[in-house]
This record gives sequence, C-alpha cells and structure tokens, in this order.
Amino acid sequence: MSDTEHYWKRWSPYWFFLEDFFLDLEIINKLTIHIENPVLIIGAGQGLLVEELQKKGFQVDGVDLEPSMITYAKKRRGLNLIQANGKNMPFSDRSYKTSIIATGVVDFMGDEEEIESIINEARRVTDDSGKVFVAFYQYHPKVEKLFRYIGLITDKGVHLFRRMGEMTKLSCDNPIGYIKAFKSEANVGYCSALISLIKVLLFLPKKEKKQRKKSAKLWKQTDNELDNPESLIDCLPEFIPYRNEENIIDLFKLLSIPIRNMSVYDSCVVVQL
Ligand SMILES: C[S@@+](CC[C@H](N)C(=O)[O-])C[C@H]1O[C@@H](n2cnc3c(N)ncnc32)[C@H](O)[C@@H]1O
Repeated sequence: MSDTEHYWKRWSPYWFFLEDFFLDLEIINKLTIHIENPVLIIGAGQGLLVEELQKKGFQVDGVDLEPSMITYAKKRRGLNLIQANGKNMPFSDRSYKTSIIATGVVDFMGDEEEIESIINEARRVTDDSGKVFVAFYQYHPKVEKLFRYIGLITDKGVHLFRRMGEMTKLSCDNPIGYIKAFKSEANVGYCSALISLIKVLLFLPKKEKKQRKKSAKLWKQTDNELDNPESLIDCLPEFIPYRNEENIIDLFKLLSIPIRNMSVYDSCVVVQL
C-alpha cells in the first residue's frame, strides 16, 4: 500500500470534516454547464460530488480505490460506488460522456507514468466527443503565500504535507505553540510572525474560515476518540507535489496530452482534455 493509500483509509472515519474542499460543491456546480450524461467521477471518496450531480439529474457513477471510502458512501449517502483503481477501471471503452478526476488522485502523485496511466484510462472510458476533467488541488492564494513563507511549500513545487498536518493541528490545539513554531519556521521575530498570521487569518474568505472551523472540530473529535490522534498525522505522506498553473501546463506537455481548457479557482485548477 502506498503512502497516500494508507492515508485515505486512516482518514475515512473523519472525511466528513474535509470532503467539501478543493474540488468542492461550489466548483462542481460551476462546472455543470460543461457536464453531459453519463458521468464518471474517479476518486469519488464518500460520494459528495456524485450525490450533488445526481441531485441535479445527472446519471453518475463513482469509483474509488479505498474500500472504506466506498463503505462510508453507502452508509452516509446510500450510494453504491465502485471499488477500482483509476488506472484500470471495469468499464468498456467510451462508456461515459464526462469523466472527472477528483482532487486527491493525480494531483497527489509525483510519478508521471502513474499520472499518465490514470489519465489515459479516463480517456479510454470517455466517448471521443466527451470531456475529461482533471482537478489539481490549490490553496487559497493567501494561504499559499503563508505556506511558502514558512517553507511548507517550496520553490521546487514540493508540499511538506505531514508538516502541514502537524502545524494545522497545533494551530487548533495550542495557538501560542503555533505562533512559536511559525516564528521559528519563518525565522522571524514574534511580532512579525503574529502580524503575518493576523493579516492572513482575518482577511480569509468565508469559505476558508468555515473550513478552519471544521478542522478545529475534527481535531477536537479525534482528541476525544483516539488514544493517539497524532497517528492521523503520522500516516500523512511526507511530501506531495504542489503544482501551479505553469507546472500543470508543463506536466501535460511532458505527457504530450493537449489541454482544451483550464479553469483556475481559489481551491483548485480544473483542466479539460
Ligand atoms: C479528496 S478525495 C475526493 C473526494 C470526492 N471529491 C468527494 O466527492 O468527496 C480523493 C479520493 O481519491 C481516491 N483515490 C486516490 N487515488 C485513486 C486511484 N488511483 N483510483 C481511484 N481512487 C483513488 C482516494 O481513495 C480518495 O477517496
């Protein structure tokens, strides 16, 4: 099992708090004008997006690699998702008119061959006249700036994902400890650290603030339920790629896959093939 696969399994009981993020309900609703039946979501998680599109009258299937995500989709939403790896799906050629690769699939991968095999598989199961959408996670520009400032995202496009988890938990459990850690990561004085944080946190959009509140609830619940809540952080992949628009364009050039359109949102970039 890869680093990321273990992560999805371990986090599935708490996914409720995090699922409406990156390629979220707001963005999928903006995409609906481009979506045609039948639809496939690859990396469907616990079915948030599948359910939303079904509510809008689309005929939608969802696949996910992680069995516990499938179980929660059934328990929480009554959905029958299909357990499969996006690299090898149990569908005939051209079965769908729209395929959507959710965030948390190719965007979490560094290996180009692996990315190519998932994208080619999505293209295989999509009609020639259809569309394949590939989503890449993004942080809100203010959060991204802060993460770059304290080295959680490097200039080489590496995201220190586990460290981000540690810092996020610390910011919820122990704000003073967080400021101290922030200060030492950024190598600045206490006042500079505090000002940078206040500037970002105060002016975050509502959606981001709401997500922060959900994270705080998540950590409160896991602190109550688990003997070792840190184990949730330990299972996070140490690094995942962080790709900006330019890096995404370069990735598709490298794969020799032409991009038809690219939409940039605050919480993800959606590439249309
Ligand atoms: C961020 S979640 C997506 C959640 C989803 N957008 C929703 O509606 O809630 C990413 C999901 O992709 C799944 N995943 C990751 N790699 C995959 C692969 N190669 N094939 C299928 N699913 C995969 C993970 O198990 C995880 O549930």
